[in-house]
This record gives sequence, C-alpha cells and structure tokens, in this order.
Amino acid sequence: MRKAILVTGGAGYIGSHLVVELARAGYAPIVFDNFANSSAEVVPRLRKLTGQPLRLISGDVRDRGALARAFFDNDIAAVIHCAGLKAVAEGEAKPLAYYDTNVCGAIALVETMAAAGVRTLVFSSSATVYGQPDRDLVAEDAPLRPASVYGRTKRAVEQILEDAAAADTSWRVALLRYFNPAGAHPSAEIGEAPSSVPNNLVPVLCEVAVGVRAHVEVFGDDYPTHDGTGVRDYIHVTDLAEGHVAALMHLSRQSGVTTLNLGMGRGCSVLEVIAAFERACGKPLRRRVVSRRPGDVAICCADPTRAASVLGWRARRDLEAICGDAWRWAARNGAQPADR
Ligand code: UD1
Repeated sequence: MRKAILVTGGAGYIGSHLVVELARAGYAPIVFDNFANSSAEVVPRLRKLTGQPLRLISGDVRDRGALARAFFDNDIAAVIHCAGLKAVAEGEAKPLAYYDTNVCGAIALVETMAAAGVRTLVFSSSATVYGQPDRDLVAEDAPLRPASVYGRTKRAVEQILEDAAAADTSWRVALLRYFNPAGAHPSAEIGEAPSSVPNNLVPVLCEVAVGVRAHVEVFGDDYPTHDGTGVRDYIHVTDLAEGHVAALMHLSRQSGVTTLNLGMGRGCSVLEVIAAFERACGKPLRRRVVSRRPGDVAICCADPTRAASVLGWRARRDLEAICGDAWRWAARNGAQPADR
C-alpha cells in the first residue's frame, strides 16, 4: 500500500512538483489547496504526470473542519506543508493576512494532526529567515533575523514547531529552508504561474522572453560581486522536490526537529542568469540597470553540507537546466499578453 502524504498547497509551484516526485518515489500524494494562488487546471496535469488518480481536497489550512475531514477520510501518514502567502512586498502591506494564513494556518494544521495522531511534518521554510547574512555561504546555525513580515511568519512557524516537538517528543519535523527555487518540470506541464505580476528574477525573464514585458530591470550593478550584480543560489524546483522526499524518508528514521538548507551551494549573478536564459530561449533579452532594490543583499548562498550528510541529497540540475525548463514552460504555458 502506498503511504498517503497530504500536501498543503499541492497545486502551487513547489507543491505541484513535489506531488510528482512523491508519486515517483512510491507515495500516494493528496493535494490540499484553496487555489488562492494556483489553478485547479494543474490537477489533471498532475494526474497525467503521476499516472495516479490523485485525490484533491479543496480547502483552506485555516479551516479546521476541512482539515479534520481530510484526516478522517484518509489514512494520512505524513504532511508536507507548503500552503501559504509568499509575496514579500504584499506581506509588508498586509501583515495580518500573512500572519493569519501562514502562522494561524500552521497552528490549525499542527493541532489537527496531533488530534488525528499524525506527527510527521515537513515544513516549507525559506532562507529568508536568515535576513542579511554575515557570510556568503549560510549554514543552518547562522543568526536568524528575518527582515520582512513574510520572513517573520516563516520563522514564527519554525519556532512553533520547535516548541511543539520539545513538548511532545513523538513529533518528527523537518524545517526546509529553500534558497531561490526556479525552473519548471521538464515536461512543461507544470511550472510557476504567479497570479499577479512577478517580482522574482526567472519569472521576470520568462515574461521578457515571451514578450509580455519590454525589458528586465537589473537591480544594481554596484554590488561587491564579480560582475557587480546580486548573487543568489538558484535551485531547480525538481531538485527541491527531491529534497522533500529525502527529508520525508529521513523522518521515518529520526524523531525531533531536523533543520536543513536546500540550495546548490554556489551562486549565480543576475547577469549570469540573464545570459543562461538567453542561451535557453535563443534570443537576446533587453535589460536596463536601475538602482538597487531595497532589502536586497549582495550575496546569499546556501551551505548545503548538512542536507548532503543527513539526507544523502544534493541539488544536481544546473543553471542551464533551470533556464531551459523555465523557458519551455513559459513558451508553452507562460504569461500571455491577455493575462495582464
Ligand atoms: C526573494 C525574496 C525571498 C523569497 C524569494 C523566493 C526579497 C527581498 N526576497 O528572494 O524572501 O524567499 O524571493 O524565491 O524579496 N533581480 C533583478 N531584477 C528583477 C528581479 C530580481 O535584478 O526584476 C535580482 C535581485 O536583485 C536579486 C536576484 O535578482 O539579486 C534574485 O531576486 P529574486 O528572484 O527576487 O529573489 P530574492 O530577492 O533573492
């Protein structure tokens, strides 16, 4: 019997890739999503990609009734919690909505899990909990000083889970801190489909390449980096999904809380990403250098040593694969001028 894994936010960008990798690894993922920032169209695509009937539960993580029914109706072995709000600027404008969805949603989920006797949880956290890092390669024991509402909601949930696991040692929790997820499934069936205007670099490049946006703004070329532009650790979303599967397997052997960075362990500059995307789409992309974006740091890359030693996992897909898959997805399904 395949073990059922509830994936909150399972129709979203990371959740959908995770569903595919869980199915490949022999699990039976169940999608739980309120479609606030995702489309129900992804579900038939996931059924096609996984070859599984794939259960879908339409629900909000703050809805305790919907959560309780999900656990009552299904023999769920573990939960991967990806549901949440994630737009940094929106979080500054609507802090209470962010705390409500991200923090209250997590509390409702954890309490429902405990009542149902399910205590294995993988939580979708973010490198944003580190804030401005002191070192170029950030390890898990680096200081935690999130600089945004969004980052503080992620850290608050980490803390809640740490406290819950300290009070009840039967919890098995993985806190996965993502660096910069990018790319799409190579089939081009699923990818990142932001419901509002994107701010992240690779979705912006997709828009420029499909002609929805005239040019990419390079936020500063005066950083202390090799070409002056910001350096980040871009990780292919399929590598990230495989990291979750490895974390789930690890939790079958290990109780308590395991905190892990998921990243490549090496950085690429904005100009390097643009160049790789140009190679992928086969055309030049117009860019304009503008001033630095407030809150951005020069360099932020993972030290992924712990994930490699604890999980035996490492990110394998490079920037060419990230840009190639993102472009294939954008060319086939990406933002259409009519959408905007
Ligand atoms: C951002 C969020 C982070 C979140 C992550 C999700 C901020 C401050 N941080 O990270 O909390 O977890 O997305 O993926 O918003 N850039 C440009 N032009 C653009 C867009 C980006 O030059 O149009 C540059 C940025 O300055 C940065 C790099 O590209 O150097 C990556 O930016 P982005 O994709 O937005 O990710 P982060 O800012 O690293």
